[in-house]
Amino acid sequence: MNSWNEGYFTDSTYTYGYYRELSPNFMRWCLLVNGIAAPEITAESCHCELGFGQGLSANIHAAATPGKFFGTDFNPAHAAQAKEMATASGADAHFFEDSFDEFAKRDDLPQFDSIGFHGVWTWISAENRRHMLEVARQHLKSGGMVYNSYNCLPGWAPAAPLRELLTLYDKNFHGNGNTKERVQAAIKFIQEMIDAEPAYLQIAPSFKPVFENIKKNNPDYIAHEYLNLDWDLMYFSDVAELSQEAKLDFATQAVPIDGAAFHLSQKAQDFLNKISNPIVREQLADYFTRRQFRKDLYVRGIRRLPPPEVIDKILSTRYVLLIPAAEVSMNVNTEQGNLKLAEAAYRPFVEYLAEDNHRPKDLLEYAERNNVSTRNVIEMVRVLTFVDRVMPCQSKAAVNLVKKNCDRLNAHLCERAKFNESISFLASPLTGCGFNVNRVAQLFLAQYKGGVKTADRLADEALKILTQGGQQILFNGKPLENPEDNIKHLRTLAERFLTRDLPIYKALLIA
Ligand SMILES: C[S@@+](CC[C@H](N)C(=O)[O-])C[C@H]1O[C@@H](n2cnc3c(N)ncnc32)[C@H](O)[C@@H]1O
Repeated sequence: MNSWNEGYFTDSTYTYGYYRELSPNFMRWCLLVNGIAAPEITAESCHCELGFGQGLSANIHAAATPGKFFGTDFNPAHAAQAKEMATASGADAHFFEDSFDEFAKRDDLPQFDSIGFHGVWTWISAENRRHMLEVARQHLKSGGMVYNSYNCLPGWAPAAPLRELLTLYDKNFHGNGNTKERVQAAIKFIQEMIDAEPAYLQIAPSFKPVFENIKKNNPDYIAHEYLNLDWDLMYFSDVAELSQEAKLDFATQAVPIDGAAFHLSQKAQDFLNKISNPIVREQLADYFTRRQFRKDLYVRGIRRLPPPEVIDKILSTRYVLLIPAAEVSMNVNTEQGNLKLAEAAYRPFVEYLAEDNHRPKDLLEYAERNNVSTRNVIEMVRVLTFVDRVMPCQSKAAVNLVKKNCDRLNAHLCERAKFNESISFLASPLTGCGFNVNRVAQLFLAQYKGGVKTADRLADEALKILTQGGQQILFNGKPLENPEDNIKHLRTLAERFLTRDLPIYKALLIA
C-alpha cells in the first residue's frame, strides 16, 4: 500500500480503454443536438481530463482536437504512459502526475472549454470529488462543458452487496500480492457462496447476472473497479446538486438521442412528462430504465439555442459512416427491448453515406436529392451516431490542424502493436475521436503505409512479427498451433483489411 494513493487501487495499472464521450467534439455534438449551446472548438481552445488512467483517450483527443490539452492522474505509471504517447504525437498536451487536490491548486492552468472524467467519480472519496469540482469551479470557462460518468442508484442497489463481498474477502483473506490471484480468489469465493444458494438471491435477481458479467472482465479492470477503498454509489439528483457547487447545470446525458423517447414506453413518458422539475424527471427516469451507469454532460451556465440555429448547425456538419452499409443492422437495443429501425428510410440513407468510399457527407444534399425532410435526416443521423455507426466530422480547417499529430500518434501505436496487444484504437483526424483498429489491423496498416499492398505479403509480414515474439495467433479465442493455419488465417484477415477496412480507414484519414 502506498501513501499517495488515498486508498485508490494502485497495485496494477489500468486497462487501455477509449471513450468517445471524453472527446470535446463529441461532448459538443451531444449538447448541440439536444439544443444546448457549447463552446466552439478552435486552435485557442483548452481541454482537460481528470483521472486519465493510461491516457489513451486523453492522447487521442489531444492529438485529434485543435487547441491545448491538459490532464492529470496521480498514478506515476499512468502519467508516464500518457506523457510518452504525448511526446510521440507532438500534440500540445500537458499531462501531470498531480492528485486532484494538487491540480486544483495549480496556478499555471488556463481556463478550460471542456473537462472530462470517465469512471472516476464513484471510485474516490467525497473529499476527492470536491477537489474535482474545485478544478471545474476555478478553471472552467463560462459556458464550458463537463462530462462525468459514474455508477448510479437505484440501478446498482440490488447488486451492490457483490462489491461488498469482493472487498470483504480481499481485505480479510488475501489483501496483497498479485492482482490476478487476488481477484481470482475473491471471484472463486463468491461463486462458492452463490452455489450454496443464499436466500438473498431471491430478493436480488440481478445479483447473479451482474456477477457473471463481472467475471468476464480482466483482473486489472475488476481490481480498479471493485477493490478501492472508496466505492460510493450516488443518485443522479445528488450528483446534480453537488455539481452546483461548481456552477455546473445538468444539460443532458452524453448521448446524441432523446433518451426518454428512445428508451421509455409511452406510458412511462406520459408519467414523466407531468413532472416539470427537470432534475426530478431525470432522476425518476433512472427507475424506469434500471440504468446502472450514467454518462452526463453539465454546462457552466446553460443556454438553449433557438431550434432553427440547432438545425442549421447540425446540417452544416459532415458525417461519416463507420462500417460497410450492408453491415448496418436495423435492430437497436433499447431499455424497452429491441427496436426495429424503418428499413425503407434508413437503408437508402446508409447507402448514401457509403458512396464514394465513405467520403464524409452533407445531410442537406441527401434531403434534397431524396426529397426527405431535414427533420427525418437529422433523426436518422442522431440514431446512427448513438449506435456508433456514424460520427460527425470536424471542419476541414480543424482536420488540417490535427492531421500530423494523429499520424504520429497512430504510427507510435502501430509500432507498439508489434509487441503488445493492449491498445485497439487509433486517432481519426476527421472525427476528432478514436476508432477501433485491432492489433493485427494495426500491423497491416503499418506495413501498408510502408508499401506492402498485397494480402499475401501483409500476412507474411504480420506472421513474422507475431512469431518473432513467440506470440500465438488466436482464432475464435483459441490459439492456432499449426503454421499453415496461422498463415491461412492471417491471409483471410489481410483480405478483409484490404477490401473492407481500408476504405473506411482512408475515409477517417487514419490510412
Ligand atoms: C477507474 S480509473 C479510470 C481511468 C480512465 N478515466 C478510464 O476510464 O480509462 C480512475 C483513475 O483515476 C485516478 N485517480 C484516482 N484518484 C485520484 C486522485 N485523487 N488524483 C488523481 N488521480 C486519481 C486513478 O489513478 C485511475 O487512473
